[in-house]
Order: sequence, then structure tokens, then C-alpha cells
Amino acid sequence: MSIWMAPGGLHVALGEPRDAQALAKIHAAGFFRGWPKNDFASYLADPRITPAYVVIDKRRAVHGFLMLRLAGDEAELLTIAVDPARRGRGLGRALLEAGFSDLAATPIRRMFLEVDETNASAIALYDRFGFTRIGTRKGYYPKADGSAATALVMRADLG
Ligand SMILES: CC(C)(COP(=O)(O)OP(=O)(O)OC[C@H]1O[C@@H](n2cnc3c(N)ncnc32)[C@H](O)[C@@H]1OP(=O)(O)O)[C@@H](O)C(=O)NCCC(=O)NCCS
Repeated sequence: MSIWMAPGGLHVALGEPRDAQALAKIHAAGFFRGWPKNDFASYLADPRITPAYVVIDKRRAVHGFLMLRLAGDEAELLTIAVDPARRGRGLGRALLEAGFSDLAATPIRRMFLEVDETNASAIALYDRFGFTRIGTRKGYYPKADGSAATALVMRADLG
């Protein structure tokens, strides 16, 4: 069983199918378009392809999560979100540290992600982990006002 330390007496563990509801709720609080619980259930059922990392307390209540998709020697960061009440306390960092450390023992060598170019807190987090900007996708994220935001495409080398 893999467990990583997280701030505030919490820790990071691998996501399990029973976490689907909690992930859908935290995701919906973090994004304009949430993903259905069933999508999370499918991802969580296949951790070799789409591993998830969850920040949990002693009762296994979930406070944030990271989900990846693995293919060959590459990983895609599908999504990361922290409960709004718990943001700014190092949980996002703990999730990425857990994911990076878990991948260190695998053939995965690169991680890619897309992020809304106006999402300053997420971009600052990715910068800290060595992600660099490799491109943009215009009109990628639909917004509540009917417009669409540009995505930055970022890449990190895992060594
Ligand atoms: C992005 C997100 C996951 C970060 O989680 P978090 O637990 O708040 O982040 P942390 O407290 O671990 O912060 C880690 C680093 O991120 C950056 N960061 C986090 N919040 C920030 C903010 N409000 N402003 C600027 N930088 C910020 C900082 O570099 C910070 O490091 P520091 O504390 O040493 O300065 C969280 O804000 C979230 O859930 N956002 C909504 C969903 C989302 O946008 N996901 C990313 C989509 S690609």
C-alpha cells in the first residue's frame, strides 16, 4: 500500500472506486463543467491506466485529488482539485509530490497537462514542479459567459 505525507495531519493514498462520489463533488467545486460520478467510477476502476491520488484524513474523507492517464512513457495530468475550504495549505503540492514519486519507479518519463491560461494558482503550482510551456490551444475551455479560454500546454520531464 502506498501512502505519502500531506500537511495538516492528512496523507495521500491511491484512489479507489469508493472515492468516486467525493471526487465528483470536489471536481464540480473546482471547474465550470464538473464530470459525472460515473466517469470517476470508470477511471478509478482502472488504476493501471488512470491512477488517482487522494488527500484523505483518518476517516478517509477526501479533501483533494489528482488523476493521471498513463500511456507508454508519458503521463497526462487529467485533473487536480482541492476542496475550496482546504486550498492554499500545501495539499495540491502534496498530491503532485505523491504522483511524481509513484511514477519514479515506472517507465513514465514525461508528464503533459493543459491549464486555463488565466488560472494563476494552478500555473504557479505547475511551475514549481518544473512544468514548462510548450504551446497553447485557443478556445479550449468553455466559460460561463459563453466565451472560451485559451489553454496552455505544459510539460515536465520526470528524469
Ligand atoms: C490548483 C489547486 C489544485 C492548488 O491546490 P492547493 O492545495 O490550493 O495548492 P497548494 O496550497 O499546494 O499550493 C502549491 C503552490 O501552488 C501555488 N498556488 C496555490 N494557490 C495559489 C494562489 N491562490 N495564488 C498563487 N499561487 C498559488 C503556489 O506556488 C503554491 O506554492 P507556495 O504555497 O509555496 O507558494 C487548487 O487551487 C484548486 O483546486 N483549484 C481549482 C481546480 C483547478 O483549477 N485545477 C487545476 C486545473 S489544470
